[in-house]
Amino acid sequence: MNDVTAQILVRLMMTPDFLSGESLCREFGITRSAVWKHIRLLRSEGYHLDAVTGRGYRLSGLTGRPVEAEVRPFLTARNFGCKLVYHTVTVSTNILAKVLAVEGSPEGTVVVADSQSGGRGRMGRIWVSPPGVNLYFSLILRPAVPSVRVPQLPLLVAVAIHQALSKFSPGLEATIKWPNDILVHGRKLCGVLCEMQSEPDLTHFVVTGIGINVNQSELPPLLQESATSLFLERGHLFSRPELLASILNHFEPLYDAWLLEEDLGFILPYLEEHSLLHAKEVTIDQMNRSISGTVRGISRYGELKLENTEGETILVSSGEAHLRKAAFS
Ligand code: BTN
Repeated sequence: MNDVTAQILVRLMMTPDFLSGESLCREFGITRSAVWKHIRLLRSEGYHLDAVTGRGYRLSGLTGRPVEAEVRPFLTARNFGCKLVYHTVTVSTNILAKVLAVEGSPEGTVVVADSQSGGRGRMGRIWVSPPGVNLYFSLILRPAVPSVRVPQLPLLVAVAIHQALSKFSPGLEATIKWPNDILVHGRKLCGVLCEMQSEPDLTHFVVTGIGINVNQSELPPLLQESATSLFLERGHLFSRPELLASILNHFEPLYDAWLLEEDLGFILPYLEEHSLLHAKEVTIDQMNRSISGTVRGISRYGELKLENTEGETILVSSGEAHLRKAAFS
């Protein structure tokens, strides 16, 4: 969708009544036939538009896709979402965002796709990304911090998503599973994949990729035990554009605060309150070893505090946590 079409769409979205063709001509400095072309384009994209002679055009239905025109009205963030790049299908929004970041796209740029043909998860896994139902997006960040601080970001994102979900779907019993999964009743609803390009003292960019199962009503058999969606949990459909905007709106102030802080101290109480793993016995799988122990909290730097069988507390900075005994709660 080109810029003028998107702007006309936003104008129509903001106008509950009919908007005359003439006013659109005036506002956008285009001819009647150009207006008609944009209307046709919007219809071809799935928008329902009433056209009545003498009255003009009225938007009677949105597509529900996380396209710029449908996300922007919900955005209150100052910079996150400054540029929204939408694709019906892409291999992976993280891959595309990294290309855009290398090319110089500004901090706050968001790449969003309706589906991904090669969605990627942590530890080399795939992220199943069917069309029309879920959210898959990547946000470009350019934090002016040494790269050692970047591993703190996934926890910050997890808090932002948790806060957005709590507001978006009150009563949803979501928990944060270190380092950055969001689970509901023990099943994964959302995953985060952060990838960065840096030198020791300088972070060039971080791409924060977020996948959320929103309106998926049936999960692939292999995921039915371990994953869930908002639809499956709450029994109704959710607006993907609104949820995307809400996450950006919640994330930006946390990110701004984190840039000014030394560490994650300011979100530790929230993390502790909503942590799935707190006081649980876990095994952490890392690339070439596993560590077991009881979770005693999260450090200011984002590490998991694990008490081993000798009673020592060790700090774990990465890995995949699995609950050992009790079922997820
Ligand atoms: C995980 O394994 O939990 C992380 C999953 C991250 C998936 C998202 S979907 C949008 C972005 N693009 C990708 O290819 N991956 C991330």
